[in-house]
Amino acid sequence: EITKLDNENILQNICELLDKYVPYYNWTGFYLMDEKEEGVLVLGPYVGEPTEHVRIPVGRGICGQAAATKLTFVVQDVSLETNYLSCSPHVKSEIVVPIVRNDGSVFGEIDIDSHFKAPFDERDQEFLEWIAKQLLVRVVHWKDFERRIKIAYL
Ligand code: SME
Repeated sequence: EITKLDNENILQNICELLDKYVPYYNWTGFYLMDEKEEGVLVLGPYVGEPTEHVRIPVGRGICGQAAATKLTFVVQDVSLETNYLSCSPHVKSEIVVPIVRNDGSVFGEIDIDSHFKAPFDERDQEFLEWIAKQLLVRVVHWKDFERRIKIAYL
């Protein structure tokens, strides 16, 4: 698993690459489980507009639900969601991929907002889940990353 020290850089790099390559990723960031307070996600590195949702209790919003269930949430139309935390009126859809350790505990999650309705398909989910797995084994293969990002999105 990645350590605190390399954390910021790796996560920030991933945000920047995703933001650069995928035109319908309009807010790309990480929430990480708080190490001090149990059951709370804390905003990590991100690219996009600042958000007021800096701390999210597990269970609340799409992010909180993904952490609670340890499942990827693909929401093609956020206006249909009741348990949703809005960051910006421009956001129409969202995908959240939890980063779950082998022992079942949640490390954090990848959260992406889009200004487009229903932009996500299996490729987005598959690729983001691949990234989540890479983060858990400490090593991010950047060459693979760029190759796969091109295959997935271009
Ligand atoms: N929309 C999220 C909150 C975080 S922002 O998208 C950055 C949610 O419902 O959990």
